[in-house]
Amino acid sequence: MKGVILGGGLGTRLAPLTRVTNKHLLPVYNRPMIYYPIECLVKAGVTDILVVTGGNSAGDFLKLLRNGADFGLKHINYTYQEGEGGIAAALALARHFADNHAIVVALGDNLLERTIAGPVGRFGTQQKGAKILLKKVPDPERFGVAELDGDRVARIVEKPRRPRSDLAVIGIYMYDAAVFDIIAGLRPSARGELEITDVNNVYIERGEMTYEIVEGWWTDAGTFESLHRAANLVAQGGANNP
Ligand code: G1P
Repeated sequence: MKGVILGGGLGTRLAPLTRVTNKHLLPVYNRPMIYYPIECLVKAGVTDILVVTGGNSAGDFLKLLRNGADFGLKHINYTYQEGEGGIAAALALARHFADNHAIVVALGDNLLERTIAGPVGRFGTQQKGAKILLKKVPDPERFGVAELDGDRVARIVEKPRRPRSDLAVIGIYMYDAAVFDIIAGLRPSARGELEITDVNNVYIERGEMTYEIVEGWWTDAGTFESLHRAANLVAQGGANNP
């Protein structure tokens, strides 16, 4: 399986920290934010990785990550996102890289306490469709929220005002090669973006979506509160543990 890390966007929720640099280059305790999702994929056995970046300081990713020696890699692939189009628009840029393989997508501002090697391995045997990872949170209205129906996901609502569950869809997604045709058929949402939640709902409608609940803590790091929390969690026990 190949891996795609999304490190674009303007990071406006973290202004003025993001006025002269990219959100994913900001420190989370002792390392730049982007290190955590890269390490997450590498520790799950995904070593063929594309970093999608854009906006401020895109060139700094190359200076920072070089060919991936800090992660035990010999090579990293990069691509550049023009403007702001949403998570699914950034993912669309990975089509050529994916080359009809299944992919694991990680948002560059998501951190996990524990490895995702288990779910990634199980998706490897799933063959078709998609898999999302869920986590119970106290503030689901900040995220994509999954409504379950027995052992399947009934639907996902993006940042609902009145969430019907407390299960956030975390920023790690596994897709078969159909994902790129699905994105090509999307229309922009009310906020003018191609939403990853709309991609996931297509897989749900097709009956091709599985899910797992992640173990250990999960956090994003795209707001002051969550960036601070992420640093504290990493300081206490590290991330991407076995
Ligand atoms: C994005 C997704 C959302 C997901 C979240 C995880 O939100 O749209 O569904 O729950 O990432 O971090 P964003 O942080 O871009 O607002």
